[in-house]
Amino acid sequence: MDTGSSEGLPGMRLLIPVLSLVLLAALGAALISATDRLTRKRVAENEAAQIMKVLGALLPEGGYDNSPHLDVITLTGAKLPGSNAVLPVYRARLAGEPVAAILTVIAPGGYVGSIRLLVGIRADGTISGVRALEHRETPGLGDSIETARSDWIRMFDGRSIADPAPAAWLTRRNGGDFDQISGATVTSRAVVEAVRDALIFFAENRDMLFSTPVDRETP
Ligand SMILES: Cc1cc2nc3c(=O)[nH]c(=O)nc-3n(C[C@H](O)[C@H](O)[C@H](O)COP(=O)(O)O)c2cc1C
Repeated sequence: MDTGSSEGLPGMRLLIPVLSLVLLAALGAALISATDRLTRKRVAENEAAQIMKVLGALLPEGGYDNSPHLDVITLTGAKLPGSNAVLPVYRARLAGEPVAAILTVIAPGGYVGSIRLLVGIRADGTISGVRALEHRETPGLGDSIETARSDWIRMFDGRSIADPAPAAWLTRRNGGDFDQISGATVTSRAVVEAVRDALIFFAENRDMLFSTPVDRETP
């Protein structure tokens, strides 16, 4: 006589654990997604802080009145040698006039993979400074490209594609004008040639670099 309830109960018994599992899975997914968003936000904030610090070191204090870390365009590596990566270019201006462009450049030939550089180039084509942003070169050897380790990378300050002549934009070991870091000739060569390529790219694209509207605010 109670056939209805005996047929319904097993279904209900199955439904509750299934619903609990679905709920747990949904909660788990929401938690993972929230953690992921938070991590990305933190990474982006850390990157922004690092970029602002480095940009400050490459620009003359009081020599610009915009926010270069927001006045940014992105290039794909196809336009700059060495990478297919997305390469931000930061612009510094004073009363709207170009002061400097800071190019993100990838030097592909490091001893341990690629070296990510910032190359600051004033509107007149002279270098305001170069800094290594990211690399995996050997501590005690290739890491001398960091200003925290040595002044080697400051040797580019004030140079241009005409000083020395383009053909001399090589390490001394390769017949050029630039000292290599002793024990890290591979690293040195990668950086010298990437800075040279950035100068050539700037010379050929100066107007585009300063006139392209902001397409991304990083980050
Ligand atoms: C453990 C180890 C780490 C090295 N790390 C680097 C490095 O970071 N950068 C570099 O240019 N060469 C590195 N080298 C390579 C040597 O220093 C290399 O011989 C040198 O760069 C080339 O020198 P040469 O042109 O004077 O012969 C490393 C070698 C060893 C054994």
